[in-house]
Amino acid sequence: MTRIRIVVVVGARPQFIKSAPLIQELLSHRHRFRLTLVHSGQHYDPEMSTIFFSELKLPAPALNLRVGSGSHAYQTATIMLRLERFLRESQPDVVIAPGDTNTTLATALTGAKLAYQVAHLEAGLRSGDMDMPEEINRRLTDHCSTLLFAPTRTALANLAREGLAKDTWLTGDTMVDAMQRVMPTVKRREQKLLERMDLDDQDYVLVTLHRPSNVDNKDRLRQIIRNLERMRKVKLVFPMHPRTRKKLRNLKTNIKQNRFGICFVPPQGYVETLGLLRNAKCLLTDSGGMQKEAFLLRIPCVTLRSTTEWPETLVARANRLILDPRKIPTTVAIAKSMNLALKPPKTPFGDGTASQKIRKILERRVTVREPH
Ligand code: UD1
Repeated sequence: MTRIRIVVVVGARPQFIKSAPLIQELLSHRHRFRLTLVHSGQHYDPEMSTIFFSELKLPAPALNLRVGSGSHAYQTATIMLRLERFLRESQPDVVIAPGDTNTTLATALTGAKLAYQVAHLEAGLRSGDMDMPEEINRRLTDHCSTLLFAPTRTALANLAREGLAKDTWLTGDTMVDAMQRVMPTVKRREQKLLERMDLDDQDYVLVTLHRPSNVDNKDRLRQIIRNLERMRKVKLVFPMHPRTRKKLRNLKTNIKQNRFGICFVPPQGYVETLGLLRNAKCLLTDSGGMQKEAFLLRIPCVTLRSTTEWPETLVARANRLILDPRKIPTTVAIAKSMNLALKPPKTPFGDGTASQKIRKILERRVTVREPH
């Protein structure tokens, strides 16, 4: 039987996580698929990249495009140029673009322009906020992909509303698959992690902030930090994304000190992050993926944004959106009262078999091109 040649392109932290279960699934069906993994190099620090490859047991990428940091146009265009060369040589039957980063958009555009089949993993998410670079990436990626894998019913409906109803599939979310697989390791390691960080179960709030809308504006970032400092009675654990670290240094915030009960730590791996989240009393974040992880772990979430691409977390009243940093202390204080009635696996995000469903659809829907 002729194998389907698949190129999966990843490059940023959330992409490693959401692609991992699908990559494992494809690797365990080697007789049907020939998989090539490409890393764009968008994230390059070991703590933003390498650690995820080992924790998620991802194979080493066949190629690293080494794009590094730069403007959106630079990253997108450079990935496109380098990827185009590789795709022309490798002639895959389908290119997979996961998520909503600049790497995602560059991958989908390059694949589509070469007239390859392009599959978007995590299709149909919409925040409705075109000021978010990810929203632009998602919309454009969906519109130039030929296979659309939607994680939720809402995402599927969003696609239909934009006239994208052909080859769209409700698969569930591969991040549920990823979380289920790593959970035994999380549970095994979390006690040591809490001891190492001098934390007790439920005695701290986990904070992650990295969106340009929160950290790129000096005044807003200053206001956020000031309001975190106001919560003196609450211990805050703040793993810092490199973007946030850089911006805080520009503000001359002393990120080594723990003066106001804020414990700044480096970016954590996947296992550590889930361990910290599972034991937190609340999550304060602007991340997309972590809103959903908090929901699945039944941890109340406060999101420092005006929109979310995961409205299901709002419907279940497990997540609250706030834009004004002055509202942080009071919202975090009442977060415990949030309704967290929905329990996995009755969540709207699937039951942990998304990667299996996607693999089966790929087997049916991808046309193998000649000659090999
Ligand atoms: C990217 C994604 C975002 C995702 C996030 C997860 C886009 C538009 N955004 O944002 O959707 O939520 O990844 O982390 O694609 N940097 C380092 N080391 C690294 C990577 C980045 O120091 O390994 C620094 C650089 O100074 C860079 C900045 O972080 O300028 C931002 O990195 P970039 O990849 O451009 O975007 P993210 O903010 O990480």
